[in-house]
Order: sequence, then C-alpha cells, then structure tokens
Amino acid sequence: MSWSSYSSLRNINSKTLVSLAAIAQIDAQSFSVLRNLTTLLLDYNFIKQILTGKEFEGLDQVEEIYMSNNQQTVNLKSTSFVNVPNLRVLTLGKSLKAEAVNLDPSPFSPLTNLTFLDLSNNNIANIREDMLKGLTNLKVLKLQHNNIARLWKSANLGGPVLFLKHTPRLVTLQMDSNGLDEIPAEALRGLGNLRNLNLSSNLFNRLKDTIFDDLDSLRVLNLQKNLITAVRPEVFKTPLANLSLLVMDKNPFDCTCETMLWFVTWLNETNMTHVLGFRDQYLCNTPLAYFNRSIMEFDPFLAKT
Ligand SMILES: *[C@@H]1O[C@H](CO)[C@@H](O)[C@H](O)[C@H]1NC(C)=O
Ligand SMILES: *[C@@H]1O[C@H](CO)[C@@H](O)[C@H](O)[C@H]1NC(C)=O
Ligand SMILES: *[C@@H]1O[C@H](CO)[C@@H](O)[C@H](O)[C@H]1NC(C)=O
Ligand SMILES: *[C@@H]1O[C@H](CO)[C@@H](O)[C@H](O)[C@H]1NC(C)=O
Repeated sequence: MSWSSYSSLRNINSKTLVSLAAIAQIDAQSFSVLRNLTTLLLDYNFIKQILTGKEFEGLDQVEEIYMSNNQQTVNLKSTSFVNVPNLRVLTLGKSLKAEAVNLDPSPFSPLTNLTFLDLSNNNIANIREDMLKGLTNLKVLKLQHNNIARLWKSANLGGPVLFLKHTPRLVTLQMDSNGLDEIPAEALRGLGNLRNLNLSSNLFNRLKDTIFDDLDSLRVLNLQKNLITAVRPEVFKTPLANLSLLVMDKNPFDCTCETMLWFVTWLNETNMTHVLGFRDQYLCNTPLAYFNRSIMEFDPFLAKT
C-alpha cells in the first residue's frame, strides 16, 4: 500500500500508515483521520470486498483514488462513493467483478466532478444507460478490454444502450478489445469535444453512415485490427477531415474502386494526418489480384477496365 498526499498530509507521520503487506480489506473509516488527504493510492493490492462507502468516510477532500490491479475481486454498491464527492480521478482497471457497475442508481452518480474514469480490463458485459448520468465533466473514459459488444447491437433487447449520451465533454474514449461489431447510429452523438477515439481490436466490418459526424474535434482515430473492408466517405469524411493521426492497418481491405478509391485518394493527398505505415502495412485482402499488396498499389484506372 502506498500513500500520496501532496502538501495536505503534513501533520501525520506517514510511516505509521504504510503497510508493506498487500491490502485485502479496507475497514470502515480506515482513512478518516486523513481529513486533508487528496490522493489515495491503492493499486496492486488484493482488495476483496464490497465497497459500501463507509471505507472512505472522512475523506471529503480526496480528489483522486487509484485502485487498479486488484484482482477483479472488488464489488460496488450504489453508495460506494457517496463519501468522496470531490473525486476527479477514479481508476478501477482490472479490479472489479464483471457485474460491479451494473447498479441502479449507478455507483458513480455522486461523482459530478469526475473527469477521469478507468474501468478497463474488468470483463464488464453489462452497463446501464444511466451509468454515467450526471458525470457531465467526464473527459477520459477507459473501457478497453471488457466485453460490452452486446450493448451496441441493434438486436439488443430494448435497443442499443447509449451510455455515452450523458458525457458531452468526453475528450478521450477507449473501447478497444471489446468484441464490438456495431456502432449504433446515435452512440457517439454530441461528442463534439472528442479528440482521441480508440476502437481497435474489435470486429467492425460495415460501419453505418454518419456515425462519426458529430466528432468534429477528432485528432486521433484508431481502428486497427478490425474487419473493415471498405473506407467509405459516408462514414469517414467527417472524422478524417482534421485528424492528426490515423491508425487503421490490419484490416482486410477490399481493393475495388467502389470501396477504396476515395480512401486511397485521401491518403495520397493528405498532408495533415500521420498514417503510420500506410504504404506497406495497409494491405488488400480482396480481390485476389491485389491480395497482400499495399492498398497504395491499387490502381483505379487499371481496376476500372
Ligand atoms: C488540514 O489542513 C488544514 C489547513 O491547511 C490544517 O489547519 C489542519 O490542521 C489539517 N488537518 C489535518 C488533520 O492534517
Ligand atoms: C483542426 O485542428 C486544429 C488543431 O486542433 C484546430 O486549430 C483547427 O481549428 C481545426 N480545424 C477545423 C476545420 O476544425
Ligand atoms: C497519388 O498522387 C500522385 C501524385 O500526385 C499521382 O501521380 C498518383 O496517381 C496518385 N495515386 C493515387 C492512387 O491516387
Ligand atoms: C504477404 O507479403 C509479405 C511480404 O511481401 C510476406 O512476407 C507474407 O508471407 C505474405 N503473406 C501472405 C499471407 O501471403
């Protein structure tokens, strides 16, 4: 266990608080003497309990809680964070049980100042539409390496779960490695501040028109390792318009005029966007004549004849 306190912990001898053994259980009011603590570091422990909220009693000044890498044995309740209303940063990566966030009301609902939330690597499959309700200041959301593909399927019972509609200020969204194969038409609506979007290592093939059209601040887009065959202007014209970095290699591109001409022309002409390795790592999968060749070798004039 480690402590970080900045200037506020000055009256307490921190040696009395540091334990070298990993923590398995936080008792009620464990930290209540640390009224001025602003940062609590609990990464890499073995915390195995339901956080009821009492554990954090007295920590009204805490702004950052780091609790990642705790063996996915932490469970939450709706009250888990009621005593830390000033929290700005909360990391729970690789710490939660898969069902921990699937609560009504959401455990995060008291955290209206939250700007950074890490829920990555938790095997989360169920998120409620209101999980982030009230978190209007959220800027960074890390959801990578979970299992939330079902939530964005049009066939989902009750329709797709549009859990990003409450977070209009998002700047960074990581949802890579989730088995996603659909982006609902409305899933990314209103995210006009989004600058970094990582959707790599999913199963996207055909993306719906205009899904990215509200993302006019986008600077970095990562769609590496999907099943994308076509890069059509109806989907990509807006998000590529002012990008500084595009990562889209390792997709099985179909090198025919219809699917590739627009993208290849854009790649050839862009002098604003970095596209790492686009000459040799963006490969055609079909048709056979272009198999395993660079998409830049695709010759629209030859292909037309
Ligand atoms: C907390 O900070 C205040 C103001 O800086 C100080 O007066 C008080 O003694 C501190 N309390 C503790 C428990 O450190
Ligand atoms: C493109 O991005 C730059 C840098 O963020 C910004 O200054 C500029 O206004 C943007 N242009 C458009 C057309 O959005
Ligand atoms: C790329 O640009 C060069 C020079 O402007 C041009 O000769 C070439 O035909 C273009 N290739 C494609 C695929 O658009
Ligand atoms: C694709 O081309 C690369 C280099 O040109 C070669 O090393 C690789 O074996 C080829 N892959 C397939 C599946 O043919």
